Order: sequence, then structure tokens, then C-alpha cells
Amino acid sequence: MATRLFEGKSHASHYQKYRLSPPQKIQDLILNYLGNRLKKPFGLAVDVGCGTGQTSRSLVPYFQKVLGTDISEAQIEQANHADGFPNLVYRVSAAEEIPAENASVDLITACAAVHWFDIEKFLKEADRVLKPCGCLAFFTYLPNMEVHYKHQSQQLTQVITELQDVLSPYVHEKVQHVISGYKDIFNAIPYTDKKRVENIDSKISMSLKDMLGLIQTFSMYQTFLSFEPEKAKDLVKTTEQRFLEIMQVSSSEEIIELRLNNVCVLASKPE
Ligand SMILES: C[S@@+](CC[C@H](N)C(=O)[O-])C[C@H]1O[C@@H](n2cnc3c(N)ncnc32)[C@H](O)[C@@H]1O
Repeated sequence: MATRLFEGKSHASHYQKYRLSPPQKIQDLILNYLGNRLKKPFGLAVDVGCGTGQTSRSLVPYFQKVLGTDISEAQIEQANHADGFPNLVYRVSAAEEIPAENASVDLITACAAVHWFDIEKFLKEADRVLKPCGCLAFFTYLPNMEVHYKHQSQQLTQVITELQDVLSPYVHEKVQHVISGYKDIFNAIPYTDKKRVENIDSKISMSLKDMLGLIQTFSMYQTFLSFEPEKAKDLVKTTEQRFLEIMQVSSSEEIIELRLNNVCVLASKPE
């Protein structure tokens, strides 16, 4: 059964504003892997669990057609509000029922999403739609994030660790897949041509305000918000105040660097 934690309209509009595009290193890794298995021009890419479309849009220059799918109508509505491209369409659809013909897809991506799916059904469905030598690319950032700013990086990272401790009772069991670096998901893929690349670091410069916005898109924050709305809002406010004090600035527009640790699972269907 699908996990429905991403349905709210305000949650979806937060997604559109604050979610990150895939790190360049991961985009390069995926395109090289695919390029070693299928000839260009690449035909169809399907970005499953696309949310508001950040990964789908990153695929647009490399594929004749990109299809972004998500089970949440609110997420797809927001994806359609973003800048469009003639070769990109979005559909409301479950990962376990991909709206594509048999053997028609070059690449299936899932960014911070595959752990929410019914893995067994999804992998079976992915196998149906992938072309021979077509590829899977599942990637995500891990919870251990660092914040860098002048000489205050250690203190700021500690504040984020404490925020994560408060949210830890609200972490969904499926997030264990992320914490384990997608090991189980990797093992479940029935293809022999596969690899799991760990410790892909990414550095993103963003305002403190945007970092707090990103944190509010996390499923554990959304769950905390639904159970304890006042405490959840207070946690964001307090975190912002602690950051401003440590950074010795008065504006949340100040730029920090968020450092993330990512994992990417790649696999290719046999010929
Ligand atoms: C953490 S979000 C990631 C969204 C986007 N890929 C990103 O990186 O911003 C997970 C997404 O998976 C979607 N999702 C969860 N279960 C799903 C399923 N069974 N089929 C399709 N989408 C699903 C949710 O609606 C949500 O938009």
C-alpha cells in the first residue's frame, strides 16, 4: 500500500519553492551509466515520485521525452505551475502502475522517492516498461547533513543535529531504507548489472530562509506538524533564532552552505 504523506496543498507549494535539483555529480553519473548501455539520442525518461518536478526538469535536455509521475495530485498540480518544456509531461500515477508501454523507457529515475513505494511491485512494473539495457537510477541524500558558515560550521551543524533529534520520533519506518543507504533496495533489484555508489557529496549555497523551507518539506517535519502544529512552528522559529545568533547576523537571507551526503543506485535491464 502506498504511503500518502505528500498530499497537502501547502506541503506541495513548499516543495515547489524549496526542493533541490539533483546534484550535478549524480546527473553525470546517471547519464554516463546510461550512455554506456544505450545509444543516443535517448528516448523516454520517466521520473517516478517526481513531486514538483525538480528531477524531471533536469532530464529535459537529454531525452526526447520526459514523463514525471507522482501519486499526489497536489504535487503534480504544483509541478504543472513551474516553467514547462515541450518534451515534458506530468501525470498523477502510482509508481506501481507506470503509464508507459512495454519496453518503451530508456531511464527510470526516483529522487528521494523509491523508499516510499511498494518495492516489489514497483521493480516488476519498472521491468515491464524498461527497454532492454534501459536503466534504473534511484538516489537520495542521507540525514547526516552539515551546515557551513565562516568559523561557525560546527555550532550550526550541532543545531541541525538537535533539530533532527526532536523530529526523530516522527521518522517513518520506510526512511530506514535511506538511513541504510538503499542497501535493501539495491539487493531487491533482480538485475546482475547494478551498482550502489555511496558518499557522493553535494554542496549547496542557499539562504538560511531556504534551508529552513527545505527542512519543512521533510516527511518527519510534516508528521510533527500534523500532530503538534504549534510545537513544530516553534521549532522552526527557534532554529532560525539560534542560527541568527550564532552567525551574528540579523537577516535570514544570509547565505549558508548545506553539505549533503548522497547515495545512488544504478541498474540496467539485461539485453
Ligand atoms: C520525498 S518526495 C520526493 C519528490 C521529488 N522526487 C523530490 O526529490 O523533490 C516523495 C514523492 O514520492 C511520491 N510517492 C510516494 N509514494 C508513491 C507511489 N507509490 N507512487 C508514486 N509516487 C509516490 C510522493 O507523493 C512524493 O511526491
